[in-house]
Amino acid sequence: MDIRLLQPSDIPHVQQTNITNLPENYFCKYYMYHALSWPQLSYVAVDVSRPKKTPYDAPKIVGYVLAKMEEDPQDGIQHGHITSLSVMRTHRRLGLAEKLMRQSQRAMFETYNAVYVSLHVRVSNVAALALYRDTLGFKVGGIEAKYYADGEDAYSMRMDLDYLREEALDAEDSDEEDTTVGQDEGGEVGSNGKAGEGEDGVRKKKEKKRKVKVGRQLGVGELVERNAAQGNGTA
Ligand code: ACO
Repeated sequence: MDIRLLQPSDIPHVQQTNITNLPENYFCKYYMYHALSWPQLSYVAVDVSRPKKTPYDAPKIVGYVLAKMEEDPQDGIQHGHITSLSVMRTHRRLGLAEKLMRQSQRAMFETYNAVYVSLHVRVSNVAALALYRDTLGFKVGGIEAKYYADGEDAYSMRMDLDYLREEALDAEDSDEEDTTVGQDEGGEVGSNGKAGEGEDGVRKKKEKKRKVKVGRQLGVGELVERNAAQGNGTA
């Protein structure tokens, strides 16, 4: 199974997956709006177990997460929003939804510095609630009455992305430790006891810190599996 960024050419297949799994469906242009406005945030799960017979075969999309940034947040805080998530019945309980969500959340933080991520879910949706609350750590913020077209209420949920900020800081700290390298200044050949030596004649090593790219500086492309990155040019 391959988790990779949503490409515009995937949209008809994602739309089909959405129609199969959820009553909340969208026009093609709404998917396109997501893919073009926030191309880093939406992902698809592709079943690559059966190789393509021709280069024109459609990818077998078995799950997706459609996500965006809130354009005009009421609370003034930069945050992401999960518009839709689903996985085909044949591919459930394999951890795909969890992976799709985590990829999208990371991209929201790394690309747009999102502080938290929000979503709505039907109060009767036991599976999705378990995923959001128990597996991922979302909290219920409130109930929105008759949120859905059929009159069902929605839980409004959100999850802070502080853990990603902490991860990035930890990575920076450990990177500074790892890259503290001893540099031998070297000396002229035959100049024993001169260059680079202290009073006691012992060569002193000079410590030099070197900055390398870690964490959020790597960008989302680095988080996509290598095959996918090569395939869709997102590296
Ligand atoms: N019952 C109880 N807990 C569940 C269930 C379930 N049926 N499915 C997932 N979970 C919980 C479990 O804790 C699970 O971990 P475990 O398997 O180790 O016990 C955890 O979530 C992770 O499960 P995943 O395998 O990652 O979830 P999956 O890939 O099966 O997809 C999803 C879950 C998306 C809810 C799927 O059942 C689905 O597509 N349902 C129909 C569409 C839907 O309801 N989408 C969400 C609507 S809300 C929105 O779009 C914002």
